[in-house]
Amino acid sequence: MWGQPPPAVESSEARRHCDAGPRYTGRVQNETSVAREVTTHSPEETVAFGSTLASLLAPPKLVLLRGDLGAGKTTLVKGIAAAFEAAAEEDVTSPTFTLVHEYRGPRANLFHIDLYRIDTPRELETLGLDDLRSDNSILLIEWGEKFPRLLRERDVEIALERAGENGRRISVVG
Ligand SMILES: Nc1ncnc2c1ncn2[C@@H]1O[C@H](COP(=O)(O)OP(=O)(O)O)[C@@H](O)[C@H]1O
Ligand SMILES: [Mg+2]
Repeated sequence: MWGQPPPAVESSEARRHCDAGPRYTGRVQNETSVAREVTTHSPEETVAFGSTLASLLAPPKLVLLRGDLGAGKTTLVKGIAAAFEAAAEEDVTSPTFTLVHEYRGPRANLFHIDLYRIDTPRELETLGLDDLRSDNSILLIEWGEKFPRLLRERDVEIALERAGENGRRISVVG
């Protein structure tokens, strides 16, 4: 295997990462170095883990955040938004009632969406999520798994599970 040229790199996004890393490794450096499974022990650790995910979430992305109420989905978004310089941690709050919060950063527009109160596909259509999707948008959706269409279209899924009072098991797929 050694000495062989890397496989062709398709996307400009991947090319950018490869340019930043050593040559002839053939893989996207930043992405492979991100942990896909962690257990955090405090909200602060979850925020910190969220901020490590930025390289996996380069736009455009549709991301489902799965987990019970209080699992830490919104807390994780604080870290993601901070890493994209789109919002300060304390400015990211739950969109439970407003349904969609937008945070604009230099590299991406983040849309934090909570579908807890949305029950039917028809109500979902009314929200117009398709209009939010663009080359530089990242949709971070809580309770999106209620809708088969979103399960099909998602690029990344992040699942959070309680592990004791302050423990949260977080896994990233996609
Ligand atoms: N390790 C942890 N990670 C994230 N949140 C934690 C953790 N431990 C305790 N918590 C608490 O759990 C709650 C998570 O709330 P939130 O992020 O709004 O959850 P969700 O959006 O999934 O409903 C917060 O009150 C937070 O302080
Ligand atoms: Mg939430």
